[in-house]
Amino acid sequence: MSQSCTAAINVNGKPKEIEAGIRDTLLTVLRDQLALTGAKRGCNQGVCGACTVLSDGRPVRSCLSLALNCGDSQIKTVEGLLDDPVMISLQNAFIANAAFQCGFCTSGMLTAATALLHANPAPAREDVSKALSGNLCRCTGYKKIIDAVLAASFELQGRVPK
Ligand code: FES
Ligand code: FES
Repeated sequence: MSQSCTAAINVNGKPKEIEAGIRDTLLTVLRDQLALTGAKRGCNQGVCGACTVLSDGRPVRSCLSLALNCGDSQIKTVEGLLDDPVMISLQNAFIANAAFQCGFCTSGMLTAATALLHANPAPAREDVSKALSGNLCRCTGYKKIIDAVLAASFELQGRVPK
């Protein structure tokens, strides 16, 4: 049995005390201790992107991030992004474009897409495709997801689709 210790991490703008061993991932702590289940445990080995959260605004795979290494970072989960206008626009666009079916990948997709649109508010289609290339979806075929991200970008920018 590995030893655990108490540590502090900042999640969704609030300090949280956690109990973690050296091998415990951020995903495990978020889901099992903090009841933040928006980040999904898909492959649990860094392949699918379902566990995506933001660390200092950048998308990271929480299944590959050790919880005890996160103390100096601002972690945001999909739950902490619900008031973000970019996230709201993306959610509406995902609904309008039927960009999900089972929904298992959706929180990771939305989180990664939120980071993209904050960094690049007017991405080209290739930019969206590249930004989401680490997020796998077994249902939609990706076209509708990319369409939705572009639609949200157009709406946020007040642009008209070509
Ligand atoms: Fe983390 Fe798949 S659960 S990448
Ligand atoms: Fe089912 Fe993406 S909507 S995995």
